[in-house]
Amino acid sequence: MLEQSLLMVKPHAFTAKKTGTIISMLEDNDFQIVGIKSIKLTPELARRFYFVHQGKEFFERLINYMSTGTVAAICVEKDNCVADLRKFIGATDPAKAAEGTIRKIVGVTVEQNGVHASDSVDNARKEIRFFFSDIELYSYRYLQY
Ligand code: CMP
Repeated sequence: MLEQSLLMVKPHAFTAKKTGTIISMLEDNDFQIVGIKSIKLTPELARRFYFVHQGKEFFERLINYMSTGTVAAICVEKDNCVADLRKFIGATDPAKAAEGTIRKIVGVTVEQNGVHASDSVDNARKEIRFFFSDIELYSYRYLQY
């Protein structure tokens, strides 16, 4: 089924100019980009985005890190997008990520693991709405070339 998901390029990967590499990897693997923007998260915005991790041991470090620099939010679309994108980014720890995955290529540590991707269809809908309004998104199913 055609789905959309949210991928976020984390601050160190954005600063290290890996956004282009990540976009190419997505496009070369049939993830259609249907929305894209860069934004500097405030601690408050980072807390809202990662609220499901509130209370965890690493939460404050995560919020601090995610508000240190610019991130890129990318909405992608393909069949089975949410599960396929999770597989394509690789394991949370880049050291354990499979060859050819985004985190294997641009990740450094568990915290600086390069990218985030939505973990369910429901969370994808919420995370896409967090970054994008209706007029900033379109679906390839409506494109008539
Ligand atoms: P992400 O997919 O963005 O979702 C939550 C993030 O928390 C995760 O990637 C990691 O970057 C980070 N994270 C998860 N576990 C730890 C940990 N033990 N220490 C530091 N950061 C973590």
